[in-house]
Amino acid sequence: MQKIQIFYDAKQQLFHLSNSKASYIMELQEGTWLLHRYWGARLSAYHGSNRPKAVKRTFAASLTPENPAFSLEIEPQEFSCPQQGDYREPSLSVRRTDGYLSGRMQYQGYEITDTLHIPEGLPHIRPMENKGAKSLSVHFQDVSSHVSLTLHYSILEDSAAIIRSASVTNTGDSPVYVERALSALMDMAYGKEQLAVFYGTHQKEFQLSRQDIGHGVTSIGSTRGASSPQYPPFAALCAPEATEHTGEVRAFHLIYSGNHCVRAERDQYDHLRLAIGIHPENFRWKLLPGESFQTPQAVLVYSSQGFNGMSQEFHKLYTNRLFPRQWAKRIRPILLNSWEMCYFDVSEEKMLQAIEKAASLGFELVVLDDGWFWHRNNSKSSLGDWQADPEKFPHGLNPLLECAKSHGIQFGVWFEPEMISPDSALMRAHPDWCAQIPGYAPLLGRNQLVLDLTRKEIQDYVLGILSSFLESCPVSYVKWDMNRHITDPGSLSLPKDRTGEFYHRYMLGLYHILGNLTERFPEVLFENCSSGGGRFDAGMGFYMPQTWCSDNTDAYDRQAIQYGASYLFPPSAITAHVSAAPNHQTGRQIPLAARAAVASSANMGYEWNILELPLEEQKQILAHLSEYKAERALIYEGKFYRLRSPFTDGGCAWMAVDAERTRAIIYYFVKEYDTSVLSYLLKIPYLDPQKTYAEKVTGRRFTGEELRYAGIALLPVLGDYPVIKLELRAEARSICQGTAP
Ligand code: DGJ
Repeated sequence: MQKIQIFYDAKQQLFHLSNSKASYIMELQEGTWLLHRYWGARLSAYHGSNRPKAVKRTFAASLTPENPAFSLEIEPQEFSCPQQGDYREPSLSVRRTDGYLSGRMQYQGYEITDTLHIPEGLPHIRPMENKGAKSLSVHFQDVSSHVSLTLHYSILEDSAAIIRSASVTNTGDSPVYVERALSALMDMAYGKEQLAVFYGTHQKEFQLSRQDIGHGVTSIGSTRGASSPQYPPFAALCAPEATEHTGEVRAFHLIYSGNHCVRAERDQYDHLRLAIGIHPENFRWKLLPGESFQTPQAVLVYSSQGFNGMSQEFHKLYTNRLFPRQWAKRIRPILLNSWEMCYFDVSEEKMLQAIEKAASLGFELVVLDDGWFWHRNNSKSSLGDWQADPEKFPHGLNPLLECAKSHGIQFGVWFEPEMISPDSALMRAHPDWCAQIPGYAPLLGRNQLVLDLTRKEIQDYVLGILSSFLESCPVSYVKWDMNRHITDPGSLSLPKDRTGEFYHRYMLGLYHILGNLTERFPEVLFENCSSGGGRFDAGMGFYMPQTWCSDNTDAYDRQAIQYGASYLFPPSAITAHVSAAPNHQTGRQIPLAARAAVASSANMGYEWNILELPLEEQKQILAHLSEYKAERALIYEGKFYRLRSPFTDGGCAWMAVDAERTRAIIYYFVKEYDTSVLSYLLKIPYLDPQKTYAEKVTGRRFTGEELRYAGIALLPVLGDYPVIKLELRAEARSICQGTAP
């Protein structure tokens, strides 16, 4: 295996980052401008073969009189400032003390280190003992104003990813204002790439969109104070012929949970610019002399093996180096959540019964969701008043904890710590604690307001409340919810020249709380949630290893949602629950087999009133749980591949397989029985072609090669929302009798 390398070729003025999977190459032009040359499959050497010839163009401003053809309007860059003749969208915009924009960054030097660059106060890719990483920092200084820029690049031994970020420093003696600081920008020749992004909404997250890139700017983003289900901070450029299994994909994913943007700009010369970072709208950061602004990290993944190849890289990187270490590879308890079971109508009596029943059916954790605290009977009150409701839980929550313990299972609880209800003791005590803009009454969302987490005393308060709760009631699990977006990005504590800092300061405040809390209580399993997958991003993943993927528990809709989420996150990070039929969100009647199969494809739990189920259904649950326990190592330790897309193929299929490719479970879902379909043909490219596999139910035997190239014919199943499950095991002696040429 090739080691990681970063070297600077002084003769050619090239920076070349490489490992066994990828190369990333930049050229320093005339000792001043850093130009992008290549990012893709590993190159052992680069001699400028793809370097375009500079051609003088009317309207293109030249930077040096001696070389009129050299213009930043045309050159492929690694970052871009305004006012240098590059009229495309910049990645950096800093307003100088005199009111003008800083716009002449000149190369100063570089450093190469044997470590990962870590952005202070922000979630990040973690260094790993025994696994190498190298970083390159390239420094620039504005020629006339006191602003400097450093671009950070890290490359890892065990990943195809390049991690980028940037920091801006005020090197002068009076303040400057950062108005835009994106994490990564890259220019390249347009090669008919398509742009893949996600769009969505509450209950319909991670919908895949793949489109041609026209001239002009195509942009997605969020200005909601959360990464959002509308457009998560991800984009991929893919070859038009790329599939799940083949073709080049270049993906960009931001490790950040707040406002963000992705811009894809195709210009008049068919150059393509892709930039990702914090959304510049309503962003303005005052930098005092000596201070720096550090952007979040952007993870850049290159795959030559289609979108599955890309996902394998994200899954491995996030499992090994993003999620909290102690949880990343641990099998998570199968939980029963009270939300769709009884919504706000929870009580000690019901929960004691639920714990007892859950333990008898094989659940490992019972979660008390919303409705457990002070007078919380609906969404109109009490957020902030985090003591057990005296009527519903007259003895507090500890009896539930003890009951769970006595049944050999765990107990967990729901919080929404970033919020405050106008009708709450907390609001009455601190009416100034919510985010607000002077002169405007803050807008309600789900009847609630947002706590101003930019303020240190409020961060300390939230941290204190959660810490003392966890100390006095040592639950094993916390669901951290966030059910509205920010409308009033203001703080009574921010001076007027810092109001543009609200959104990012909010995120820094939240990360501070989460960092402290998860460090203080490493054995508590934190589950991220924002009305489902409203803030399902890598930033939150740094603190919480799993996310409630959607409030939509309908097993048909969930196929698309989980399929989309699996582009970035492994199944261990995606929680999926079996719920009632008819489904509470859609009214669909989906058989238990399909509901169980969709949830079993991820980090599985239930939220269903198990207290009122007929015996037959209870037996089915018992059987499902023990089946999942026997199979879940594949979900947590194996690899997950998408085989058929609900977005384009009609039907949905995926597979979990162990690392040695000796055992695989494949699910194939369709919406309804179709009399014209005699069989479904499924090709499975990810088995070992040298192995022979036996199918569990029928005992039929096939070679991996055959399943890969000829595929397997699956018989349709009668009924609505049928699911076909296939379990394959490799035989010890892999010789299969069959028709040989
Ligand atoms: C939204 C979550 O996604 C649900 O699972 C549930 O916890 C509710 N909030 C509770 O208010």
